[in-house]
Amino acid sequence: MDKFVIQGGVPLEGEIAVSGAKNSALPVLAACLLTKDPVNLRRIPPVRDIATMEKLLSHIGARVSRKAGVVTVEAGTIGHPEAPYELVKTMRASSLVLGPLVARCGRARVSLPGGCAIGARPINLHVAGLERLGAVVKQEHGYIEAEAPNGLQGAHYTFDRISVTGTEDLLMAAVLARGETIIDNAAREPEVVDVADLLTKMGASIEGAGTSTIRVRGVSELGGADHTIIPDRIETGTFLAAAAITRGDLTVTGCNPEHLRALIEKLRLTGADISENDCSIRIRVKGKLNSVDVTTEEHPGFATDLQAQFMALMTQAEGIAIITETIFENRFMHALELARMGANIRLDGRQAIVAGPCSLQGAQVIASDHRASASLVIAALAAQGETTIDRVYHIDRGYEKIESKLAGAGARIRRIK
Ligand code: EPZ
Repeated sequence: MDKFVIQGGVPLEGEIAVSGAKNSALPVLAACLLTKDPVNLRRIPPVRDIATMEKLLSHIGARVSRKAGVVTVEAGTIGHPEAPYELVKTMRASSLVLGPLVARCGRARVSLPGGCAIGARPINLHVAGLERLGAVVKQEHGYIEAEAPNGLQGAHYTFDRISVTGTEDLLMAAVLARGETIIDNAAREPEVVDVADLLTKMGASIEGAGTSTIRVRGVSELGGADHTIIPDRIETGTFLAAAAITRGDLTVTGCNPEHLRALIEKLRLTGADISENDCSIRIRVKGKLNSVDVTTEEHPGFATDLQAQFMALMTQAEGIAIITETIFENRFMHALELARMGANIRLDGRQAIVAGPCSLQGAQVIASDHRASASLVIAALAAQGETTIDRVYHIDRGYEKIESKLAGAGARIRRIK
C-alpha cells in the first residue's frame, strides 16, 4: 500500500490548479444512464472513485471512453440494471444508479452500501423517495430490488433530512416520471445544481435546483449532451487550509469562490488575508492564526467534508476552537491521529475542542477515511521533521495527484509505492 512521506516546515507558495469535482462527477456519470445517446463530459477527475463508477457503468452495459480529456458515456442498451456488492462495497456512491435505472428500465437491483468509517449512512430516504414516485421496493439478500414496470409517477416528496445523493438520485428518477414532481427539503449543494444543469441540457424540465424546493416536469425521453462539470470546492478548501497552516502565499486557480463562502468567511476570521476573483482564490498568512469555532451544516453552511482539514489548521491557532460535526455521527477519527502528532484535542460527543497552538511533530500515522487523510497531509506540512502517512489509497479516491500538486507549490512530499 502506498504511503506519503512529508518533511514539514515549508510555506506553500505559487499556484495550484484544482480538478473537477468528484462529488459532481459521480452523479453526472450516473445520469448518463437516462439516455441511449452519447453524453460528453469534461473535467472528470481521473481518481479512484471515478474509475469505480466507470467500471459500474460498463457492468450495467454502457460504453465509457476517454479521449483528449473528454469522457463519453453511451448507454444505448442496458443489459444489467444492477450495482453488484463488489463495486458498491468499495464506493457507496454507487447507489446513485438506483434512480436512473428504475426511471430508464423500470427496475434496478442495487447492493446496500453497508456501514462506513464516518457513520451509518443508510439510503432509506432514497428508497422512500422512489416509493413515493410509485416504485415497489423490497430488500433481499443485501440488495435493494426496485420495480416500476409501468414507469414512475410524479409526486410531492419531502426529505426527512437533507441528503445530497438522495436529492440527486430522486431528481434523476423524476426527470422521466409522468407529470410533476416536487422535491422539498432538497439539498442545495453546488453538485446538485451541476447534475440539474446536465439533465436540463439532456432535455429535462427542472426548476429550483440550488434551493430547498425543486420542481421537475417529467419528459418521455432524454437526449445526449456536452457538459463541463464544476471545480472541486473541497479540493480547493483543502489547499487553502494547507497554505494557511504553512504560513504560505498560495493562489488556487480554476475554482469557484461562490461555492466556498462559509470557509472563506472562517479563514478570514483566523486572520488569513484572502483575495479572490471569479475563478481563483489567493490566501496569504503571516504570523499568528486566531482560533475560530465551526459547526458543519448542509450547503451553504460549513461543509462537513472540510471539517477535518479545518481541525488540522486549528491545532496551529491561538486559543480554543470548538468544532461541531452535525452531519455524520463518527467523523473525528483524524483527531486521534493528529493527537499522535502532538495536537491537543478533546473529543466530547459531536464536538472536538482544539487548544492551540501546539508544536506538531512528524510521526507515523494512518488515514482512516477520505477527508481524514487530507487533514493528516495538512498537519504533516506544518510538523517538525518527517511524517509517514499510511493507507493513502483513501486520499486517491478523490484527490488527483495531490502530492505532485503540493510539491509544485514547494511542499516536500513524496509517495512511497
Ligand atoms: C454526500 O454524501 C457526499 N458524497 C459526501 O462526501 C458528503 O460528506 C455528504 O454528501 C454531506 O455533504 C457524495 O456526494 C458522493 P447525505 P451523501 O445523504 O449524499 C443521513 C466525501 O468525502 N441519511 O447528504 O451520502 C446520512 O447518514 C464524501 O467526498 C440518512 O439517514 O450524504 C447523514 O448523516 C463523504 N438516510 C446525513 O443524512 C438517507 O437515505 C447526510 O447524508 C440518506 C442520508
